Amino acid sequence: MPMRSALVLPRRHVAHSVRRAYAVRPAPPPRRKPALAPQPIDPAYAVGESTPAEAPAPPRSTFAPWILGALSAGIGFYTLQLYLAASKACLNPHIAELTAQKDVAERYDYTAASFDSEVGFSELLMGVNGLRKKLARKCHGDVLEVSCGTGRNLGYYDIEGAKAKVESLAFIDLSPQMVDVCRQKWAALFGSEKAKQRLHPELKVRFMTGSALGNMPLAPRGKKYDTILQTMGLCSTASPTELLENMARHLDMSNPDARILLLEHGRSYMPWLNKVLDNSAQKHAELHGCWFNREIGELVEAAAKKSGLEVVNERRHHLGTTWVFELKPAQATVKKAKGEVPVVASEQADLKQSAGWLAKLGWS
Ligand SMILES: C[S@@+](CC[C@H](N)C(=O)[O-])C[C@H]1O[C@@H](n2cnc3c(N)ncnc32)[C@H](O)[C@@H]1O
Repeated sequence: MPMRSALVLPRRHVAHSVRRAYAVRPAPPPRRKPALAPQPIDPAYAVGESTPAEAPAPPRSTFAPWILGALSAGIGFYTLQLYLAASKACLNPHIAELTAQKDVAERYDYTAASFDSEVGFSELLMGVNGLRKKLARKCHGDVLEVSCGTGRNLGYYDIEGAKAKVESLAFIDLSPQMVDVCRQKWAALFGSEKAKQRLHPELKVRFMTGSALGNMPLAPRGKKYDTILQTMGLCSTASPTELLENMARHLDMSNPDARILLLEHGRSYMPWLNKVLDNSAQKHAELHGCWFNREIGELVEAAAKKSGLEVVNERRHHLGTTWVFELKPAQATVKKAKGEVPVVASEQADLKQSAGWLAKLGWS
């Protein structure tokens, strides 16, 4: 018995479980959504549009904290570097003097291909392109761009349409590699038939390799230039004052509207920043071919005084490290160039003397 009952009981259990498993159960009642509380109607939403309560939430960006973190770390690191550079004593206290700065202009022969990508982003961030554009739009008549580099101002000149202010454009740079990039950029911008048709029909364009410290070709009709533009050039030449004086020699001084336009970079008006510049000037010059710690204001003033130019406009940006100058022939210079001013006694004596020598040599 005990054995049987032991066998029967489990069988009963099995049968019960089987019946339960196969029993047809009534379907569970459909789940109801909890009734939404009535929403106030927003008049800003048209009928049929979803109301703000039902609008899907915008996807959350998981990258934002990482990007912010990396940015803060970068800024922190940069600030620390600046602080360290500003608190270090300069090894060469004369490094801002021209005599202590060797000629590094040939660096551009090696960096021409990467120049635009090296300076492009920082210039964009600092708004330098806007300054370039402002200056280039002031150019008129026969224009000479000195130290043109890769032609970063090409797109800004007023050269399109019959009313264009620029009649001719001449570009000169010491580095043949830089001039090549400039020429290619011109071809990319204005080389197509469609682009050519937009240009002023009489516009003449020339690309020249050579030093702006020497004699430069005159404008197409054999006259001097109405505008001479240079951007970021005084930092790269061994003789910045001479370069400016030579620009003045190529400017039509008889034209009161003639201009020398400069966009340069150099020393700041903040002593701590000048310390940073002085401390890294040597390395920067050797790497990039540019002395960024020069006192641009002094150089321009000295050259202007010697050449009979007058500063019309002077502006500084970026803590004083970016300099913008507009120079014109002083009134007395214009008169002299037009022959309206009698030659002073000492000059007359010089002329007589040289005339005498020339006459002896058979020259009139
Ligand atoms: C910093 S880059 C500036 C290029 C361009 N003007 C710009 O705004 O990007 C300096 C340029 O000055 C040129 N340069 C240096 N000395 C020069 C000289 N004596 N005559 C003509 N160009 C010179 C270099 O070859 C180089 O292309």
